[in-house]
Amino acid sequence: MPGSDKILVALDVPDIPAAQSLVKQLAPHVGGFKVGLELMNHVGAPQIVEAVRDAGGMLFFDGKFHDIPNTVAGAVRGAILPGIGLLNVHCLGGPAMMKGAKEAAITEASAQKIPVPKVIGVTILTSMNVAELQAIGMQQIKESRDITILVGHLALEAKKAGLDGVVSSPQEISLIRELCGPDFLIVTPGVRPTWAATGDQKRVMTPKDAVAAGADYLVIGRPITNPPKEIGSPADAAQKIIAELQ
Ligand code: C5P
Repeated sequence: MPGSDKILVALDVPDIPAAQSLVKQLAPHVGGFKVGLELMNHVGAPQIVEAVRDAGGMLFFDGKFHDIPNTVAGAVRGAILPGIGLLNVHCLGGPAMMKGAKEAAITEASAQKIPVPKVIGVTILTSMNVAELQAIGMQQIKESRDITILVGHLALEAKKAGLDGVVSSPQEISLIRELCGPDFLIVTPGVRPTWAATGDQKRVMTPKDAVAAGADYLVIGRPITNPPKEIGSPADAAQKIIAELQ
């Protein structure tokens, strides 16, 4: 897959015109788009999917479901819409929840006679570091290596539960590849070119390094959708990243 096709742009904007404007500017350059909680809550999931799916490429429905298995299975059924290629749940919801999510995706997509989207698990959010994990009671996490081990464990659980891959920080890609094999999908946010601000992301890597480490898709939001002034437009930012990948 060419480097440009690996880039999924996070459409973290509050309305359909803003999302469509980004799609229009960026669809010729990148591999696809991600719609997430901001757009889903502002305009509705089916509405936003319908508004952006004609761009073609990969469409990632980033609903990050995390609830009891029955509720997540229902949420997944509701999220199966034509045009979606990827959707996700949190691994921290547990094995039964992950297994139920995948089964629900297969059943619902078959009922709608559409391709089954890949279901992937969010391991540990890329905005979490050692201090954040300790603050939620994970005192055994003492250094960043402990996060990597936890993420590797969650990725293996996701694989055992039948998920197609995981979302992880770029720093954990090599271990996940080693543990879960070449066909396991690794989607990574927390990607930052050297010229972009890290913002709230804590476990970051450059796009080039993330691809070299084995990422299948890079989810990139603000560095492309709101680039530093000196970089230019979103399309300029995307092209700069693609050039850096080559
Ligand atoms: O703007 P930025 O490049 O930080 O956007 C990253 C996107 O990836 C956001 O839409 C965020 O919701 C998503 N994401 C993440 N960390 C995860 C899973 C998804 O940042 N573990």
